[in-house]
Amino acid sequence: MTKNVHIKSYGCQMNAYDATRMADVLAPLGYRRVDDAGDADLVILNTCHIREKAAEKVYSELGRLRAMRDRPDGGHSDFMIGVAGCVAQAEGGEVLRRAPYVDLVLGPQTYHRLPEMLARIARERTAGEGDGARAGRGIVDTEFPPEPKFDFLPGSSGQGPSAFLTVQEGCDRFCAFCVVPYTRGAEYSRPVDAVLDEARRLVAAGARDITLLGQNVNAYHGLLADGRECSLAELIRRMADIPGLLRLRYTTSHPRDMTADLIAAHRDVGKLMPWLHLPVQSGSDAVLEAMNRRYRADEYLRIVDDLRTARPDIALSSDFITGHPGESDADFEKTLDLVRKVEYAQAYSFKFSPRPGTPAAAMEDMVDEDVGNERLQRLQALLADQQLNFNRRFRDRRVPVLFDRRGRRKSQLAGRSPWMQAVHADFASVVEADEAMGRVIDVEITAGHANSLAARVVDTGGEASSGVAAA
Ligand code: SAH
Ligand code: SF4
Ligand code: F3S
Repeated sequence: MTKNVHIKSYGCQMNAYDATRMADVLAPLGYRRVDDAGDADLVILNTCHIREKAAEKVYSELGRLRAMRDRPDGGHSDFMIGVAGCVAQAEGGEVLRRAPYVDLVLGPQTYHRLPEMLARIARERTAGEGDGARAGRGIVDTEFPPEPKFDFLPGSSGQGPSAFLTVQEGCDRFCAFCVVPYTRGAEYSRPVDAVLDEARRLVAAGARDITLLGQNVNAYHGLLADGRECSLAELIRRMADIPGLLRLRYTTSHPRDMTADLIAAHRDVGKLMPWLHLPVQSGSDAVLEAMNRRYRADEYLRIVDDLRTARPDIALSSDFITGHPGESDADFEKTLDLVRKVEYAQAYSFKFSPRPGTPAAAMEDMVDEDVGNERLQRLQALLADQQLNFNRRFRDRRVPVLFDRRGRRKSQLAGRSPWMQAVHADFASVVEADEAMGRVIDVEITAGHANSLAARVVDTGGEASSGVAAA
């Protein structure tokens, strides 16, 4: 019997990847992934705990789902509700206390057990009586099982032209503000052969651009078949040999794990795209120390220089936190100075959000909310300027774009440049657009906007090179 599952993901790309894997786990049970919760038999919220706002959003969404499910007119929606991801991991049974109508709570390390959980619920429901059996009977599985879930996941199905592939999970860095080491657990690297097998499957299913994922991806040290450890740089070199794969990226990296070997890969591996997300968080050494980031601002700038020597056109992206405990006006000015020195192509920035159980939440020198907000606005204005400048420089240039999504109009497609910019292009006809889908095609940039590039198609002939047109 076919059933429908609706999975809504919040937070980072690893959650987006996990959503595709949950769908893979459920496929043999007859579940098809659907876009609309109203059509679903099972709705899973794949949640994020990184900031308070992200975590609280889950409860409003759960309330909305309950209203939809328990409509007074009886409706058609009798779906089960699951809460997965990092809020589930952090709060466990607390989720059921706040939302007793939830049917299952599962952590990021236990979703391979979904079929067992669903079978258990079905058994309990048949044993119980009617509707009354639902309330207060949710099940919770947020263990960190000793065996990694990857050993139990079925082969991944396709994700389209641009795919994610988790190679590393968890984090041992314990930045003072961050919940990830608690929600995702200790660092774990998947074995090289498992990664390469999954990559080949993704490519066979149409992937041309693969982003290797990990909370601290450049700490990757997976085992080779002969028992030797393999660095991320070596993994990238092996991935680059996969025929049909045109582009590679990896995210997110910690500056301390940016080895010379990995920097050299940006010079040597043509398929490795000229783009890197390298979060700095702050430009002040005092704040970096309070954050337990374990690098100084000048060390970060040195890495940026080395990367630019290796790959002069590399586009850099970052994360920032304003208003971390202890951040003074002078500290914040140092962040602005660093941003002016680096010139980012793109960045995310957040106001500090104290997270339960993290060291930063218990620090004494909290920064006033308004001050944190005001700093955030100033930082975002500077970053937006830099992004617009970066994008504007592309006007009139020829750029190879991997088209991976439909645009707003039927003959329009969207895709990514090698530097990770979103590019929108109009094709002469719907047929031409269909043919371009999933391919790398040279376009001419007609305008650079705040968040995207507009392009004209110059040549839909043979597949362009993987990479980068001469500047
Ligand atoms: N592994 C990545 C980050 C994962 S979290 C890294 O090391 O950079 C993504 C971003 O969320 C972080 O880079 C940080 O900028 C932000 N973030 C994490 N915890 C936060 C908190 N408590 N308050 C505000 N922003 C936070
Ligand atoms: Fe969080 Fe720091 Fe680990 Fe990134 S490196 S996931 S910010 S603890
Ligand atoms: Fe959020 Fe968990 Fe990712 S807290 S950012 S979903 S690792």
